[in-house]
Amino acid sequence: MKVIYKTVLPLAALVSLASGACISSGDQNTINSALSAGNAGAIVQLCANAVIQVSGQITFTAENQEISTQGYPTGSSRATIQIAPGNSASTIIGGGSFSGIRIQNIQIDGNRPNAGLQQGGGANIEIGGGATGQVVSHVASRNPRGWSCLHIIGSGNTASPCANATIINNDIGPCGQSGTDANGNGLWADGISLDCTNSLVQGNTITGSTDGGVVIFGSPGSTVTGNTITSSAEYLGFGAINMVDGEYDGSYAGVSVTNNKIVGQKMFNLGIGIGANVWSFNDPYPLKGPVTIAGNTISGSVSFPIAINGWANGITVTGNTVSGVTSPKSSFADASHCSAAIQTLFNEDASLIYYPAGVTGAQNLQSGFVAASANVTNFLCSSTPLPNSISFNKNALDVVSDSGPFADLHGVIMQYQGDNNVVVLDTTNPNGETPVWASGHTVSGGCGSPSLCDMVFQGDGNLVTYYNGAPQWSTGTAGVGNTMKCLNTAPWIQILDASGNVVWDTTKST
Ligand SMILES: *[C@@H]1O[C@H](CO)[C@@H](O)[C@H](O)[C@H]1NC(C)=O
Ligand SMILES: *[C@@H]1O[C@H](CO)[C@@H](O)[C@H](O)[C@H]1NC(C)=O
Repeated sequence: MKVIYKTVLPLAALVSLASGACISSGDQNTINSALSAGNAGAIVQLCANAVIQVSGQITFTAENQEISTQGYPTGSSRATIQIAPGNSASTIIGGGSFSGIRIQNIQIDGNRPNAGLQQGGGANIEIGGGATGQVVSHVASRNPRGWSCLHIIGSGNTASPCANATIINNDIGPCGQSGTDANGNGLWADGISLDCTNSLVQGNTITGSTDGGVVIFGSPGSTVTGNTITSSAEYLGFGAINMVDGEYDGSYAGVSVTNNKIVGQKMFNLGIGIGANVWSFNDPYPLKGPVTIAGNTISGSVSFPIAINGWANGITVTGNTVSGVTSPKSSFADASHCSAAIQTLFNEDASLIYYPAGVTGAQNLQSGFVAASANVTNFLCSSTPLPNSISFNKNALDVVSDSGPFADLHGVIMQYQGDNNVVVLDTTNPNGETPVWASGHTVSGGCGSPSLCDMVFQGDGNLVTYYNGAPQWSTGTAGVGNTMKCLNTAPWIQILDASGNVVWDTTKST
């Protein structure tokens, strides 16, 4: 039988034809001019496959405007707007607090690998404010120079909050890296940062967020559903879905987080973090529901799949699946620097965790929840597996006091303190971090700020501490020491000669 096809022009094509020619080159000024020329409702379209480099922000100028790629492709032919290297731009598109604006079917690239981290920079896309009905769909957002791939900011005004944002079918990431740069600036970034009421975050694929995958700042009435959030294969991710920030006076009333898929590759510390006291800070008051967290699937390398502490006024956690979480957790993570109660939960491979005294009001928690034995307040404490020992060659260790641990071992931290004391701490003692050895020879007034204390494993093989250039303590191994070895068992620190013989350890007082 012969099939006769009728040619029907899709609605999308009609819209793009109506809007005239597409933009194939230029910069932010080209797009900003088109927006201002078009007034409310203007549809500014980029040509498929166009790459527009910008050195400043594109900002909507009136309600109901749209930026999209002509023909609304969904793959790699979407036009790309990318920050050019050599400037301080961070936000690529700003919503200008206009209601009804739409960002659709384009790629937004902060270009961090070439343009660099922008300290204090904004998200790639910054919409929200006192606006309603904004839409971001089929947009790729990656490599932000600032703290998030996509931020829907609150209005700061309870009388006219940000409302009804629709964030659907986007592919987000990678966003940020782990750790800090040489100046101590955090390199991590969020995937989607939602601070808008009655909004929908659905069908997004977030891969390689390094702070939160979807961070829900209160956002009462919002729904986060059917998203896939996968941690980076290369960098740590702090959390997949965060409900830890006290915006809207702590209210998450009516928020539902359902049917999301969370996958830890290298590692997520937290799958779904819920409450004022699970992140690295403590909000001053409990966060408040009622909320529903249901039907989510968490698998792979996730240290703490669901953790709740600091919640009031209603929480339902049902039908979530954690059977695919890698076990034992010690095969991908190390919690030996966490608080004692968290170490216990980690060693038990607990996946559903709550602190009973930290959850008040109506609650319906699915079976399998394990109670923390104490007020567990920081689930970002896990890391990838830590070594049992590390060694320094001559001249390879030179630190000022209080510059962080010089040896970060499984169950042990070694640090050079602000009073010139070299201290070894056992982090697995049930009573908390316990010093197991200290060099002594402290400086009574402290090392000052900036520190005048310095510890060096010198080129002559001697480990020496100095205050203001004057030696305070040493291992007395000048001329014989060759390697400094730090161990997570006694005697903790050894100096070896070139043949590997121990010429000093902490059992020798000096
Ligand atoms: C929310 O925004 C969407 C997209 O702009 C719109 O279609 C819908 O009517 C809005 N809903 C409400 C309740 O304002
Ligand atoms: C747990 O500790 C945090 C931080 O100190 C505190 O704000 C919170 O009130 C404590 N929770 C309970 C139930 O005591």
